[in-house]
Amino acid sequence: MRFTQKQIAAEAERIFARLQHVKWTREDCELIAPLTLEINLLKKEQDALILAHSYQTPDIMYGVADFLGDSYGLSRIASQHPAKKIIFCSVHFMGETAKILSPEKEVLVPTVAGCSLAESITARDVKALRRRHPGAGVVCYVNTSASVKAESDACCTSANVVKIVEAMPQKDIIFIPDKLMGQNMRGMTSKNIILWNGTCIVHDHFTPETVEEVKKLYPGVRVLAHTECEPAVIGKVDMAGSTSQMLDYVSKTDAKTFMLVTECGLSDRVRAENRDKEIVGTCNLCPYMKKIALKDVLTSLKEPSLKQAITIPEGILKRAKRSLDRMFALEREYDAKKGHG
Ligand code: 13P
Ligand code: SF4
Repeated sequence: MRFTQKQIAAEAERIFARLQHVKWTREDCELIAPLTLEINLLKKEQDALILAHSYQTPDIMYGVADFLGDSYGLSRIASQHPAKKIIFCSVHFMGETAKILSPEKEVLVPTVAGCSLAESITARDVKALRRRHPGAGVVCYVNTSASVKAESDACCTSANVVKIVEAMPQKDIIFIPDKLMGQNMRGMTSKNIILWNGTCIVHDHFTPETVEEVKKLYPGVRVLAHTECEPAVIGKVDMAGSTSQMLDYVSKTDAKTFMLVTECGLSDRVRAENRDKEIVGTCNLCPYMKKIALKDVLTSLKEPSLKQAITIPEGILKRAKRSLDRMFALEREYDAKKGHG
């Protein structure tokens, strides 16, 4: 597709307004402008919606995405938005979750990318766990395949995990697959948590020492961590939650300096959207999330491959949907009991 110099310059300027805060130059933005122009044009023509998780690269987040968010928020948007086609810029299980919630929509992921948590457990493993712990309820973290969701009683996300575990009727809860999040739930809920040995390769690398060093170096810094980090890290931070809950905390807190113990994409979002806040310390990159490039988003619109389209066998989809629907119901139940929601 050909664009005029004027169109390219205007598009580069639009992107630069955000990306300059994450160290992109005007020239970098001029280079990607023809791509973002073409993607945004095709998106309109095809009535497609582009969703991007906060761990995506800034060119995707601010160049072409219609909505940014966490796994929970984006899947809800996917199911409620009238668009017929969803391009989900994130890992495969998030695309699957959107498809489970909106089976009538065409859902595509630009690149097929896994996740160390989702790959740590199969449907067969869940069946074996049930046999080993009869009577226990099974809560699966959203970072799982559709077939694992289909074998679980209820799903949860990092944004509502405490509510779901608490609202389950059983005292014994098999929590899969994130061992560290499960350990954190032992401290945050009254349930007896049975663990699985999965971890997130991005969050299991952070140590309490890293947090201590940053706190010494930057007095007054607020440290926020994703609940996929180990309990020793969570014990040292000011706030623990999902990616969106962390963003919310940053924008609503008066402090100026923050450390985000999570994937680097979230720090980029704060830099691009909260100009008055400073991010210090380290972050880690997720090799799965960062597999997607703008050119892949373009192919998913222009000449989608079979691999990019999310398909789930009907039987699995129906049972996986039950576990997601149960999540929404349990959350409502919990909120009603606590008198909010
Ligand atoms: P959120 O649900 O908090 O966006 O987290 C997803 C994820 O993959 C975290 O590592
Ligand atoms: Fe999976 Fe961790 Fe990457 Fe999230 S950050 S997609 S949990 S590997």
